[in-house]
Amino acid sequence: MTPKQLSTVIKTVNLGKIYQQGAVPVPAVRGVDLEIGAGEFVAVTGPSGSGKSTLVHMLGGLDKPSSGEIWLDGRRVDTLRESAWALLRRKKIGFVFQFFNLVANMTVADNVELPALLAGSSPKEARARREYLLDALGLTERSDAPPSQLSGGEQQRVALARALSNRPSLLLADEPTGNLDSRNTRDVLRLLGEVHRDGQTIVLVTHEARVASLADRVVSLLDGQVIDDGTIAVPRRRSRGGAGDVVELR
Ligand SMILES: Nc1ncnc2c1ncn2[C@@H]1O[C@H](COP(=O)(O)OP(=O)(O)O)[C@@H](O)[C@H]1O
Ligand SMILES: [Mg+2]
Repeated sequence: MTPKQLSTVIKTVNLGKIYQQGAVPVPAVRGVDLEIGAGEFVAVTGPSGSGKSTLVHMLGGLDKPSSGEIWLDGRRVDTLRESAWALLRRKKIGFVFQFFNLVANMTVADNVELPALLAGSSPKEARARREYLLDALGLTERSDAPPSQLSGGEQQRVALARALSNRPSLLLADEPTGNLDSRNTRDVLRLLGEVHRDGQTIVLVTHEARVASLADRVVSLLDGQVIDDGTIAVPRRRSRGGAGDVVELR
């Protein structure tokens, strides 16, 4: 039996980003061609300054490419306006920033429920989802606190819970374990594993080999270019609909 082809969630064509620092052009991403299938868990690694954040920011519409194309679910998106990107993020992309970006004057619980509510969940559903996520990340006791009272590691886990609140089909996470001790890293990785088993597509930036080793595939960047792109294992998993169709990579 031929394996069923994975549908492509993300495709980039010759994607490039050049920042201007005064008069000096700084190439951050150079000619990246990437194709990521539905349900894949991809780790993006590379040294500091290699363009990891710039790449995922562009994939989430938070940074404009200087050249090339981005396609999401078969639709060209690099040409979209900010309002259309905002809608796309609300409906299907969860984003964990390197610097958390929590809403300061809302409690942890409200920060996590907000994306679900914006995506159209009922208050009851949003609350159940929030309780599940905060529990999975060991944050239940911090529910009523404002972000300013949390440690860096706690804020980082709240940022992940928030990104997963609307059950995004695509999770983009920039160093989500960067500030965490080993126990909290384990909680985060366990939750990402569950999300992955649910069929969500994950693109995770990390410079930690242990974290990258959980992914199906590791894309290595150097000086803004992909220098290695390897599939680690051949995962088999069920689609989220539970219809029982098994998909395989390659
Ligand atoms: N806003 C910016 N303005 C100018 N240069 C930037 C900006 N953001 C990133 N860069 C530069 O782009 C390159 C890639 O940065 P980045 O994507 O943050 O790498 P990484 O996440 O791998 O550390 C670096 O040389 C960095 O200095
Ligand atoms: Mg970065």
